Amino acid sequence: MEQIKAILAAVILAAAIGAAPQGSIAADEIELAANDGYDPMARPVNPLSPGVPSGEPEAELNPELGNLPDTSGAEETFYLCSACHSLAIIKQQRISDARWDYLWNWMIEKQGMPEQDPATKEKILSYLKRHFSSER
Ligand code: HEC
Repeated sequence: MEQIKAILAAVILAAAIGAAPQGSIAADEIELAANDGYDPMARPVNPLSPGVPSGEPEAELNPELGNLPDTSGAEETFYLCSACHSLAIIKQQRISDARWDYLWNWMIEKQGMPEQDPATKEKILSYLKRHFSSER
């Protein structure tokens, strides 16, 4: 094992020396290469709202909807849920789908949230589970 490590280190060192910039490469070329792929205007990942199903492109956050990820159901969720408290309380959650179902009823029975028609309820709950669940 030690031997393999030593060989690996030697190979890496040799590669590093070989790849070292030669005198002929201008300094700004090196800098450009180093910055490849860096986009200063890229939207930083919001730690309160990183929950997007893996494999799917990240949803844009909508500043008009409290920076909720802008997918179907964002608007309904915004207007219903921000009536009583900050959306941060939602965005910070990573809870199971079953817990979202439970909280829905809890919000209605204990906090006086108005019950929604079945379609709206389904829309908001799938939205919450899509973005703020521990299950995806
Ligand atoms: C009628 C008022 C009201 C509405 C509407 C409402 N909530 Fe709440 N919610 C509360 C109250 C009150 C609490 C408790 C806050 C506290 O513990 O300080 C709470 C707490 C929560 C919590 C934290 C639960 C926990 O485990 O501590 C979550 C998550 C939550 N709400 C999500 C939602 C979502 C999602 C919606 C929209 C579907 C919503 N709320 C709509 C009143 C409401």
